[in-house]
Amino acid sequence: MGKVDVLLGLQWGDEGKGKIVDVLTPNYDMVARFQGGPNAGHTLEFAGEKYVLRSIPSGIFQGDKVNLIGNGVVLDPILFREEVEGLLKCGHKLTERLVISRKAHLILPTHRLLDAAGEVALGATKIGTTGKGIGPTYTDKVARRGLRVGDIELDFQERYSRAKQRHLSMLRGMGVEIPDLTEVEKTFFEAVEYLRTFRFVDSEFEINNALRTGKKILAEGAQGSMLDIDFGSYPFVTSSNTICAGSCIGLGVAPHQIGDVYGIFKAYCTRVGEGPFPTELFDETGKLLAERGHEFGSVTGRPRRCGWIDLVALRYTIMINGVTKLIMMKSDVLDTFSTIKACRAYKIDGIETRNFPYSIEQTIEPVYDTLPGWNCDLTAYERESDLPKEFLAYVAYLEQELEVPITVLSVGPDRKQTIVR
Ligand code: GDP
Ligand code: IMO
Ligand code: MG
Repeated sequence: MGKVDVLLGLQWGDEGKGKIVDVLTPNYDMVARFQGGPNAGHTLEFAGEKYVLRSIPSGIFQGDKVNLIGNGVVLDPILFREEVEGLLKCGHKLTERLVISRKAHLILPTHRLLDAAGEVALGATKIGTTGKGIGPTYTDKVARRGLRVGDIELDFQERYSRAKQRHLSMLRGMGVEIPDLTEVEKTFFEAVEYLRTFRFVDSEFEINNALRTGKKILAEGAQGSMLDIDFGSYPFVTSSNTICAGSCIGLGVAPHQIGDVYGIFKAYCTRVGEGPFPTELFDETGKLLAERGHEFGSVTGRPRRCGWIDLVALRYTIMINGVTKLIMMKSDVLDTFSTIKACRAYKIDGIETRNFPYSIEQTIEPVYDTLPGWNCDLTAYERESDLPKEFLAYVAYLEQELEVPITVLSVGPDRKQTIVR
């Protein structure tokens, strides 16, 4: 029996999942996305090329591996087509290697309108979504009225019209002036036809048959555990289960089929959109992290908020996910810092705690440990034994605090700038 290893973000997304999925893909037969949609932006760099993937799994650049879009994903045909055609222009043809679950839900143009209208209605308490229609699409799924990829092979036009009418009346109820949809609907239906050139599969069978024949699968998470609908900083979260258990639901695999759980985190912490962020820095140090880390959204270009690493939150997400191996990203961003801080505990109402509280919207004072920096350029290092001792001490400190081994150290955005321990 093969296993499904899961790679997922332990913070608020953008940890560097795309890069590491690409690095690990040679060890697998299949790479599968299990949740989220084009709210994701997964960046890969190799051989002087750079790609940002949104709905397509990050295994597509490593030979002829199967890449699967699972039932837990929400797919926007228009953005999917743009993404595929962009890759085609760069010489990457995917039609044979990419398969799509019939049970994945479709993002309609009116879902995007509802997303935007929802944010306007929230006003000052808005979530700061990516505006891709994610929330409304998952809402329709749970309310049992969504459209699925498999519906394209059925009476799709009728189902679409019903959904659209329902969305329009909701929008009117919210006081939204409905724009002319003629153009976007034309683009949408052309994109749906384009989608049909890909193989639609009953992906739960595809995956379980592969496992039965001993194949190895890597499940690629999107977003991060702190954005999980159940365990994240609710309501400032996304609308799917981003944690390990989400891979069982989003792919149709049994829990005992899960092998390693790779938890990936940055050597510091970032968040994009609204919502609480206990270790956020509003000073020069925060600015320096943003600058050195090029912390701007891969998809929206929005500046990412930056702060020190939060070990209270990390211990929590490691627990929820059952992480077996940690991967630390963007270590090189800290190269110029003379000292580095790590939030070991929270102080709430004067009481210190290592446990992650019900809400982090209250006033939290981070309790920091301060460690010496390494003050050198890590990006050229290839072997662990050559790394500066201060950096290795930071890694050892994190392992002691988090109680899980850090098995990969990333020291730059390129595929090659990866040290496997
Ligand atoms: P993802 O959503 O988790 O795949 O992450 P993103 O692609 O949104 O953001 C990670 C960003 O950091 C991308 O621009 C990567 O190219 C870049 N990156 C990944 N690993 C490293 C690293 O070790 N060092 C540096 N400096 N950049 C990295
Ligand atoms: P990757 O996969 C970082 C955030 C949004 C917003 C909240 C809800 O690249 O790590 P949504 O559009 O999902 O309803 O937005 O979640 N968010 C992300 N932040 N990385 C992502 O994906 C994100 N996907 C959504 O900024 O705060
Ligand atoms: Mg991203």
